[in-house]
Amino acid sequence: MTLSELGSIQQVLLIFILVLGALTFVGTLIKTNTYGRHMQGNEKLTLPALPAWLIFECPQWWAFAVTFWGLALVHDLSPSLPAILLFALWQSHYLYRSLVYPLRMQDRAKRFPLAGVVFGFGFNAINGFVNGFAVLTASHLMDSAWLSDPRFVAGLVIAVSGWWINFQADGILINLRSDGSTGYKIPFGGMFRYVSSANYLGEIVLWCGWALMAFTPAGLIFALFTISNLLPRALSHHRWYLQKFPDYPADRKAIIPKLL
Ligand SMILES: NC(=O)c1ccc[n+]([C@@H]2O[C@H](COP(=O)([O-])OP(=O)(O)OC[C@H]3O[C@@H](n4cnc5c(N)ncnc54)[C@H](OP(=O)(O)O)[C@@H]3O)[C@@H](O)[C@H]2O)c1
Repeated sequence: MTLSELGSIQQVLLIFILVLGALTFVGTLIKTNTYGRHMQGNEKLTLPALPAWLIFECPQWWAFAVTFWGLALVHDLSPSLPAILLFALWQSHYLYRSLVYPLRMQDRAKRFPLAGVVFGFGFNAINGFVNGFAVLTASHLMDSAWLSDPRFVAGLVIAVSGWWINFQADGILINLRSDGSTGYKIPFGGMFRYVSSANYLGEIVLWCGWALMAFTPAGLIFALFTISNLLPRALSHHRWYLQKFPDYPADRKAIIPKLL
């Protein structure tokens, strides 16, 4: 298949993700995805959470890697340094998310809905392809001069900050169960000082920064999708904390410090 034919497929898939993002935003505002604390106990088809996370997150790294390096090889393109850095940042996050993070989860009895695994696998495979294709073929990313562009530099600072907030918040949540307990406690430390979903805040900042670095429609659409998926869930987590813990810190917001 030629690059131009693949480009047409990518455009269609980008519109699909955009529409899906809008539907996800409205849908999850009305009804929170039933995994984690929001599972209702009547879900019939579920998998253990550990293999579920391993299965549905891994296409983000292999679909990106196969698209990026496979097309570079077939079409004799040599990716520039900015493209390789974008690839490396994407891979480091998704190798962590799909391999290290599930193995660090403490509650091994936890289940995850099969429908979420199927949806996540499909979405992540599409998203890995559209972003791998965009990073390989965007003309500004073929030029090493992009490395010193203010959008790339500012995006890198934002993305690394977001990655750190997310990684630190994951660690704080995981440590809440290091004593072998399986229930919920109030998290403290890091950005939990300001928001109930510091992990989601970090994830959103990470992908907004990465989108600025890449400056492609695919990167922007993924950042928007991340917001549409995680913002309503963060609001729902926050309401849940306020109901469950009467002593919950009153000045803590849901996802945006001091604002929301
Ligand atoms: N890019 C995206 O669109 C996207 C989408 C989804 C997730 N993610 C990322 O994946 C990671 C996990 O997401 P998630 O939705 O599972 O996050 P979450 O609901 O905050 O849960 C994260 C983990 O911490 C545990 N946990 C949460 N709050 C706790 C508390 N108060 N006390 C004790 N344990 C607690 C959860 O256990 P339970 O499972 O028992 O609740 C789960 O194992 C996050 O870093 C998120 O940013 C990204």
